[in-house]
Amino acid sequence: MTKKTKIIAVANQKGGVGKTTTVVNLAAALSRQHRTVLVVDLDPQANATCSLGLEKQGGVSMLSCLMGEMEIADVIQPTPYDNLNVIPSEIDLMAAELELARREDRVGAVKAIMDPIRESQVFDYIIYDCPPSFGFLMTSALAAADSILVPMQAEFLALEGLGNITGRVVQPLKDAGLVGADFGIGGVLFTMVDNRTLLAKQVTEEVRKHFGDVVYETQIPRNVRVSEAPSYGQPVIFFDPSSRGAEAYRAFAKEFLRRNPTRFEDPVPASVAPAAPAENPSAEPPVAQ
Ligand SMILES: Nc1ncnc2c1ncn2[C@@H]1O[C@H](COP(=O)(O)OP(=O)(O)OP(=O)(O)O)[C@@H](O)[C@H]1O
Ligand SMILES: [Mg+2]
Repeated sequence: MTKKTKIIAVANQKGGVGKTTTVVNLAAALSRQHRTVLVVDLDPQANATCSLGLEKQGGVSMLSCLMGEMEIADVIQPTPYDNLNVIPSEIDLMAAELELARREDRVGAVKAIMDPIRESQVFDYIIYDCPPSFGFLMTSALAAADSILVPMQAEFLALEGLGNITGRVVQPLKDAGLVGADFGIGGVLFTMVDNRTLLAKQVTEEVRKHFGDVVYETQIPRNVRVSEAPSYGQPVIFFDPSSRGAEAYRAFAKEFLRRNPTRFEDPVPASVAPAAPAENPSAEPPVAQ
C-alpha cells in the first residue's frame, strides 16, 4: 500500500474561531491512532507551539528556512507525544510577512521548502495552523496544502466568511495555477457549538445546505476544559480525556480519517478506541504501532 502524505491547512481569516484548538487536538488524536503527524505553526502568536507543550525558541520557525538560515529537517521538533512533531513558531515569524511580500516566489515559498518533507513520506499528515488574516503566511500555507479545513462558529455571516475564503484566496490561487483545479474547502467544522440556541441550529443548517457533505457531522461543543488545556501546554484530549471537548475531538478525528485516509486505507474500525492517555503522557507515551 502506498503511503502518501496528506496536507491540510486549517484556516479562517476570522480570529478566535478554534483554528489552533482544532489543529492541536486533531493532530493529537491522529497521533493516538498511530498516524505520524507534523503540525506547522505558521501563526506568530505561536499558540499551537505552546499548546503542544513546547517553549518558543528564538530562531526556530519557518522564518529561518525562508531566510535560508536553517534546513527544514532541523526545524522539526518532537513534542512530548509519540508520533507528533511540530515546526514551531515564535514572534519573529511576523517578519515572514515582509520577507514573503518582497519575494517573487512569495506564494510558493513555503511549499518549496516543505516539498522534500512531503516526498520523504515520513508523515501521514501535515497540518498547518494559519494566522487569522489574508496575509502571505496564510496564502502560502494554502498553496502548500491539498485542502482547507475551516473551523467556524455558528454565527451570522458564516456563509459570507466561507465565501471570502473561496473568493479571496482559493480562486486567485487557482487562477495563478498555484493549486490544482480540485483544491478548495475540504471540510467545515463547527466549533464552540451551543446547540441550545436557535441561531446555532439555523446557521449550521444553512451552511450544510450550501456546502453539503463538506460540513463535518461532528460538532465541537463549547467546553471549559478545552479552554483550560492550553495554559497547561496540553491538547485537551491529553489534559482531560473524559471531557466533552476531548470526546468531540476524538470523534472528529475519526470522521477526518474516514474522509482523509492515507496508508491505512480502510476506515477506522469502531473497535479501535484511542489508547487511554497516561496522566503524564511524556512519562508514559502511547505505544507506537
Ligand atoms: N470548544 C471550545 N470550548 C471552549 N473554549 C474553546 C473551544 N475551542 C476553543 N476555545 C477557546 O477559544 C479561544 C480561541 O480558540 P483558538 O485559539 O483555537 O482560536 P483561533 O481561531 O486559533 O484564534 P486566532 O485566530 O487568534 O489564531 C481560546 O481561548 C480557546 O481555548
Ligand atoms: Mg490560532
